[in-house]
Amino acid sequence: EKKLTPFEVIGEDNLNRLVDTFYGLVAQHPDLAPIFPNKFTEIARKQKQFLTQYLGGPPIYTEEHGHPMMRARHLPFPVTPTRSKAWLSCMEQAMDKVELEGPIREEFFSRLYLTAQHMINTPDGGD
Ligand code: HEM
Repeated sequence: EKKLTPFEVIGEDNLNRLVDTFYGLVAQHPDLAPIFPNKFTEIARKQKQFLTQYLGGPPIYTEEHGHPMMRARHLPFPVTPTRSKAWLSCMEQAMDKVELEGPIREEFFSRLYLTAQHMINTPDGGD
């Protein structure tokens, strides 16, 4: 038997719901909202593409945007330790809201935790 990818386990509809819920929370977060654009349509679209391939689904982010190089793409934005924590906290709340539970949630979140650490490019108070 072929092992399912995390993308297959979560499912496209759930992943899309997660991303929309997540940016709804980011939009209201006092530490995060100021560095994001007012409209989340485009970033949500890109994040759905990115997370699809991050979770082992088809490489639709790379097809449209090229190599992810996520840290480089974040360099124009001051990602502080505080903002990294805030990002993860919005993601945790979004996972609660869409009821993403169990081992798949733990696996996904621990990867996001590492990626969010890696994205930090500015010290607190340095922006
Ligand atoms: C883009 C913030 C972590 C994936 C962005 C943008 C901001 C941002 C401000 C640009 C929005 C715009 O287009 O104007 C942050 C902060 C993070 C964080 C504060 C805290 C650690 C992450 C993580 C991931 C991620 C962990 C993936 C797992 C993306 C993607 C884009 C993006 C896919 C779109 C890139 C593109 O333009 O193609 N982020 N981010 N971010 N972020 Fe993050």
